[in-house]
Amino acid sequence: MTNDSYDARGNKDASLGKDPGRPVGTGVGQVSAHEKTRGAPGEPFLIGETMSGGYGKGPDILHDCTIAVNEGEIAVIVGPNGAGKSTAMKAVFGMLDVRQGAVRLGGEDITALTPQARVAKGMAFVPQTSNIFTSMTVEENLEMGAFLRHDDISRTMEQVYELFPILREKRLQAAGELSGGQRQQVAVGRALMTQPKVLMLDEPTAGVSPIVMDELFDRIIEVARTGISILMVEQNARQALEIADKGYVLVQGRNRFTDTGKALLADPEVRKSFLGG
Ligand SMILES: Nc1ncnc2c1ncn2[C@@H]1O[C@H](COP(=O)(O)OP(=O)(O)OP(=O)(O)O)[C@@H](O)[C@H]1O
Ligand SMILES: [Mg+2]
Repeated sequence: MTNDSYDARGNKDASLGKDPGRPVGTGVGQVSAHEKTRGAPGEPFLIGETMSGGYGKGPDILHDCTIAVNEGEIAVIVGPNGAGKSTAMKAVFGMLDVRQGAVRLGGEDITALTPQARVAKGMAFVPQTSNIFTSMTVEENLEMGAFLRHDDISRTMEQVYELFPILREKRLQAAGELSGGQRQQVAVGRALMTQPKVLMLDEPTAGVSPIVMDELFDRIIEVARTGISILMVEQNARQALEIADKGYVLVQGRNRFTDTGKALLADPEVRKSFLGG
């Protein structure tokens, strides 16, 4: 695991990732120093490596697909509809039978773990659809996010409200009554309640206006600056690659292009085929 870019991003503020009330590396959402030392030198913090697999007994959707993110960085997956972006996220989170390949977190092989066990290891996932409880209040949604924790969650909730002030205002309102952009904030906030080391977001800006999208991306950058790794699927490819340390273009379940966000944005072939010129 390299910390160069982590430092370069100025990730000094650990307020969201680490609760001062809890000793570092001992609770839910923290990976112990022991586990960290098991990573191969230079290996990304989270990696789904050469993953192949599909749904049930169906054909493989992913073919030798590799997705990774470094500590405190933003990795973005883009590609056409049906390319397997959501499937790759599910594979990394343990919701899909990976027939070939492996998933490692902090150097530990977690390929066989259930999604719930991965949450306990510090992973949080906001799926593309049905990512909030619409009949519950905003605050109840956040409380549900902390279901695995047994410590005081009030500080983390305060941090979520600081990140998304509108949620404090609406905290007693049913989440289903919120706007699309506000709902996405609830979904991200709920995921942050586990104090994750890695936050996985499948199209967090789906259906929101460009202004709300920019705002949400700013908040996501803020989260990354606290040291949390972000692995994100985005339909707004150009804007997402602008904030990405690393970008993955997937086509038909395979890696087509992998580079820094900047390099992908500058690549004529990527621009022509995937960014509308
Ligand atoms: N639950 C499922 N059962 C069977 N096949 C599925 C399932 N979900 C997705 N697929 C198939 O897997 C392929 C990849 O779908 P996936 O949802 O991963 O694409 P995507 O890149 O996320 O697309 P989009 O941009 O539309 O969200 C598609 O052919 C789809 O039909
Ligand atoms: Mg999808």
